[in-house]
Parts: sequence; structure tokens; C-alpha cells
Amino acid sequence: MTTSHPYSLPERRPRRLRRSDTVRRLVRETRLTPDRLVLPQFVIGGEDKVEPIDAMPGRARMSIDRTIAECKESMALGTRAFALFPAIDPALKTNDGLEAINPDNLLCRAVRSMKEACPEACLITDIALDPYSNMGHDGLVSDRGVILNDETVDMLAKMAVVHAEAGADVVAPSDMMDGRVGAMREALDAAGHIDTAILSYTAKYASSFYGPFREALDSAPVEAANVPGDKKTYQMDPANSREAIIEAMLDEAEGADIMMVKPGLPYLDIISRLRDCTALPIAAYHVSGEFAMVKAAAARGWLDERACMSEALTAIARAGADIIFTYAAMDYGRWYAESGV
Ligand code: PBG
Repeated sequence: MTTSHPYSLPERRPRRLRRSDTVRRLVRETRLTPDRLVLPQFVIGGEDKVEPIDAMPGRARMSIDRTIAECKESMALGTRAFALFPAIDPALKTNDGLEAINPDNLLCRAVRSMKEACPEACLITDIALDPYSNMGHDGLVSDRGVILNDETVDMLAKMAVVHAEAGADVVAPSDMMDGRVGAMREALDAAGHIDTAILSYTAKYASSFYGPFREALDSAPVEAANVPGDKKTYQMDPANSREAIIEAMLDEAEGADIMMVKPGLPYLDIISRLRDCTALPIAAYHVSGEFAMVKAAAARGWLDERACMSEALTAIARAGADIIFTYAAMDYGRWYAESGV
């Protein structure tokens, strides 16, 4: 067929390299393999317990034995790193969050058992007081309702040492207090844990996409006189981008090994910006609300779950994340085993 319009032919035809699956794979720029994913797990006490989380279809709070079983399943699918979050008995939650530094708390017991059962797994523990706080805040709350910075940092540094002693490979401060990375590095080194890495939640936004996570841990900030009902005095304003660079410079100077941006998909510009201003590995957290949105739409037949979840995760990798925390890690591992990327 000859052209029937009067315009000159295009000189460049990018479509040549999109003609077949084979050619598209040759020129594909981003390949997300399951070994770049981290599976977050919610741990509860007891034995043989699985409590499904309403707003996170397919995910559950699990006792340590079931968490270990899932860890093995995930490792077989290619995802071998885990972020552990304990759901603490409400009777143990206090404003001083002291349970956080109890070497026999649920999290430490989980880490010890998992390390024994799966020594090759990389265990990443969350450093923040919210699961232990009766106020649902990541830090200590003063009488006047201020989230205290330096007093909290002292607790976080102790928490990091307790986690390292239990066997955590990586500790991940997610609280956004100032100066916590440096304090944790000093405390870890002083206790001889020179090989424990710090993955800092560098640019963590005061996002509304954390809802399902807070349901899973029953850790939402409480509504009380004097106590702020949100985390806006420490987590970043979603409207800010340059501020992420300031956080990144501080974290790098304080000794962070990996930097995290959170949430993922709504913050691709931040991932890309940090990618350009540090040589450190970058992680991104595809958070609970992002996961829930795809699941909910797919359940109604409005979106194709596999296609949309894979696209979202690939987009986060394309933006510059080396590592992605996602609740879809095992699903992705299954899809990957079926047909690769
Ligand atoms: C706690 C913490 C949160 C998440 C990870 N660590 C919640 C929060 O900051 O309120 C959210 C993860 C998710 O939504 O998947 N410091």
C-alpha cells in the first residue's frame, strides 16, 4: 500500500522497536526481578494464627510460626528480604513505649526465630515507636502534645541495638525524627554492631495512603485532647520536593546505607530526584493504600490486578528505586516465574 496523504514520511520511526514481544524485550530498559522486592510482614503473638487484614486482601497478621512458613514460601519465589512489623498487645502500649526496647518483645522473638529458620533471609526491622505507643505516635508525646525529638531519638538508638542483638540485618528508622540516623549509627557501633545496616526512611511523607497499615497494627494516632491526630509535625508535607534533598543530605552525612522514599507511586518525582543526588541505593515503599487501591478495583473487575500491579512496581523501579517494599511481592514472584518481565 502506498501512502495516500500529502505529507512527507517521518524520518524516525520508534515503532520499529515495538513490533514484537521479542524486539520489545531486547530494548526494555527496566527489568524488575523479585530479588529487588521486600515483603512486609505483620507479626502477632500466639501460634498457628492467621488474621486476614480487611483493607489488604491476601495479607494477614500472622503468628511467628506462620510468618516463618510464609518467609520460606517467599524465598522460593525469589523475594528474600522481609520488613517486620509487630502488632503489639494493647496492654503493653504506653506513652514511653518501653516495650520497644524489651529484648524479649514480640519483634525480637520473631527476628530470632526467623534467623534460625531462614538464615539467608535479610531481616529489616522498623525503628519507630508507633506500634508500642498508646498515642499511636512514632515518638514520645509531651504533656502539651508535642512529639519530642531528642528524647525519642535516644529510644530509637536503643531500639536499634536491641534489634541488632536479636539478629536484624538492617534497621529502618521510619519515624522522621531529626538526627536519628547518626545516633543509631553511633549506638550500633558502640555496641559492636558495625555490620548492621541502616535503611533510612529519608523522605517519608505525611500521606493518607497508610490507612490500611494502621488498621493492621491498630496504630493510628489517637484522637485526644492535646494530642495531634496526624503525623504532620514530623512526616513531610506532600507538597514538598526540595525538602527531600535536605533530608537526603542529612541522612547521607549521618551514615545511612540506603535511602527510602515513601509512598511510591505518587512520589516518583522524589525517587527520581534523589536518584540524581546520591550514589546510595534507593528504596521505595509501595504502601498499603497503593496496594489496596489496585486490589479493590480488581475485585470489582475495574482493573486487571496482575497488569496494574506489575506496571506500578515497574514504574517505581524505572523512576530509580533499586529496592521496592511491596505487599504484592509474592504475587509478583508467581507472575515472574510464569512469564518473566
Ligand atoms: C510506622 C510505619 C508506617 C508505615 C511503615 N512504618 C505508618 C505510619 O507512618 O503511620 C506505613 C506502611 C504502609 O502504609 O504500607 N512508622
